[in-house]
Amino acid sequence: MNLKKIVVIGAGTMGSGIAQWFTQQKCSVELVDNSDEQLSRALKSIHISWDKLLEKKKLSLEEITEMKESLSIKKLDIVSKDADLVIEAIIENLEIKKDLFNKLDQYFNSHTILSSNTSSFPIELMAAAVSSERRKRFVGLHFFNPATIMKLVEVIRPKDADEQLCHDLYQWFDSKDKRPALCKDSPGFIVNRVARNFYGEPLRIVESDNESKMKEVDHILREVGGFKMGPFELMDLIGIDVNYSVTCSVWEAYQREPRFAPHALQKQMVEEKRLGRKAKRGFYKYD
Ligand code: NAI
Repeated sequence: MNLKKIVVIGAGTMGSGIAQWFTQQKCSVELVDNSDEQLSRALKSIHISWDKLLEKKKLSLEEITEMKESLSIKKLDIVSKDADLVIEAIIENLEIKKDLFNKLDQYFNSHTILSSNTSSFPIELMAAAVSSERRKRFVGLHFFNPATIMKLVEVIRPKDADEQLCHDLYQWFDSKDKRPALCKDSPGFIVNRVARNFYGEPLRIVESDNESKMKEVDHILREVGGFKMGPFELMDLIGIDVNYSVTCSVWEAYQREPRFAPHALQKQMVEEKRLGRKAKRGFYKYD
């Protein structure tokens, strides 16, 4: 497998990280969003991140220049129809994703692989929006935040996807210093299913919006438990809205099993727009 031309749709937290990572693998990347403002912001922050790598002498000026030339921001109707791989990383809303995939199926050449970075929706539900031929080339590629740093990529195979294609994708990521995992197409896949309790139980432990208790739980899990981040710090990084919607859809998918139930505080914070680091206010305040 040789992935050279990549289109990433959605230039938010995940899409911009995924676009940056693919560009760093010497792919030619076109980044798309329905907000022009978000697109310019994403491009600017990727350039800043590369400039920092140059300052730290982790990459050469030649490499940075080449990467800047290989990454472009575009409107969806002018991206390359012959892309090898499209990764969707837009808002976690099933109907909007299905509508987009229906358009993508008609737009791209038959060899193009379509994929979703959804955190929680079964890939099969989105694959239903494309033709039966394309379904063979429709998979889930679930990256983790920050996508440039986190090694794991879940490669999810819905029932109609070509088995060899999934193995080839696995091999490709493996050769690029990611740690791929082949997953069944079940709600939450592997990590987001296990992680529900990493968020849900701490929320039930603190019970209410109590910052000092949250700090204590974060401290214990980080310093004693050996986790890189505590659950409240991690939810703030992921985005309270993103995490809440994943919780709800995994809970629904498992027939509202109590162990997956969302906490009232998550809903309240979404309504109050306390969305985590991106809003400078989540469980904690940020400057
Ligand atoms: P985000 O809210 O940061 O970014 C979403 C972007 O999609 C926004 O820039 C928005 O303008 C754009 N958008 C919305 N509808 C669009 C459309 N129809 N066409 C083009 N662009 C559109 O969200 P985030 O966090 O990047 O999540 C994106 C996807 O990745 C979701 O499916 C989420 O579940 C998944 N994900 C999120 C992770 C996280 O830690 N935030 C981790 C792994 C997966």
